[in-house]
Amino acid sequence: MLALVVVTVVASACQSQSREPSDSLQLSPEFINEQLDDAVAQIKVLADSVPTDRMPRTFQGDTSVFSNTEWWTSGFYPGSLLYLYEYSGDEELLQLAKDKLAILEKEKYNKGTHDLGFMLYCSFGNALRLTGDTAAYEEILLTGAESLISRYNPTVKAIRSWEGWTYPVIIDNMMNLEFLTQVSKLSGDPKYRDIAVTHANTTMKNHYRPDHSSYHVIDYNPVDGSIVGRKTAQGAFDESAWARGQAWGLYGYVMMYRETGDETYLDFAKQIASFILDHPNMPADLVPFWDFNAPDLPEDSPYATTYKTYRDASTASILASALIEFSTQIKGDEGHDYLAQAEKILQSLSSPSYKAEIGTNGGFILLHSVGSIPHGSEIDVPLTYADYYYIEALMRYRRLLEGQPLLGGAP
Ligand code: GLY
Repeated sequence: MLALVVVTVVASACQSQSREPSDSLQLSPEFINEQLDDAVAQIKVLADSVPTDRMPRTFQGDTSVFSNTEWWTSGFYPGSLLYLYEYSGDEELLQLAKDKLAILEKEKYNKGTHDLGFMLYCSFGNALRLTGDTAAYEEILLTGAESLISRYNPTVKAIRSWEGWTYPVIIDNMMNLEFLTQVSKLSGDPKYRDIAVTHANTTMKNHYRPDHSSYHVIDYNPVDGSIVGRKTAQGAFDESAWARGQAWGLYGYVMMYRETGDETYLDFAKQIASFILDHPNMPADLVPFWDFNAPDLPEDSPYATTYKTYRDASTASILASALIEFSTQIKGDEGHDYLAQAEKILQSLSSPSYKAEIGTNGGFILLHSVGSIPHGSEIDVPLTYADYYYIEALMRYRRLLEGQPLLGGAP
């Protein structure tokens, strides 16, 4: 009974605005189901290659690359399995997910990373939502959230992202805030949500330029909260707009509007969406270059010759999922426009230009993502998080087709 009550609280607390199935939806149930059926088939190919104690990360030069559970992407594979279990009802996928959750659990004690939202909420959050097993998953989420907020500094008013630098906060960290808002609902303790709101406000103030593009890294002085550097780590140069960072920001502020109802976040998300979608360097298929400034790089840039036109499918996946939710938050033509852009992205990603044939690509669904060009890492490869947000976007769209409200943090 307790489990039922808690799950009801989690589910209803996560409701986004509901909508009627709409004739503005341009993608058919058959199209969406075909992509999800393919995703199920492909993740089973992937599952066959994954060692018991590892998580899939990418596939490079015909070689599968796996990670340990400390790596920031470790929650995406179990999360993808859970979404596809939700879609298919295939118990094999649930069991595969549970096997991975067992090796991931220890990360709840990890205070050395800000990525616990990705690692624990995409995985255990979905597991709790789908199974209702509070005895198995609630403590893990609460312990993980305590680990995450141990990195919060009330002077900076933000959660520290990395070690090194002085006190670096990266735009990606917006994606860990949903974990905190949900744990406040689970525990009844508002402190996690309060930190999420404060972090989002600090990021809004300091990470964004007047054109509503985001810096990647803001480095703070932890003693007085002043800014000591505005930098990039994964973008083309400090003042450039690293593509995935722009997508993390959009997703984050759409989510914060859902969680708080604060229209400041809604307005801010509109400005970010405008920077991204109206950018002159946005390709017609809406799969962004790895950095919005990449095509304009001068010849003396270290990334000019080879990497000017590399795309990042992971950015497109994140954008598709965020825009679907955004479209439910805004009535009228504006909402329909965001939905149309998400549809375009889903069509592009589902085409042979970006979607691998089943049985190829090491079992990953999407081709052509970029981890970090400046680090020479994961360039033009599949990535576990590109697949996760693509699946999430498909599942969210499926809910729209069924006239169901979206669920926060999950479709
Ligand atoms: N959070 C790391 C990345 O987006 O690459």
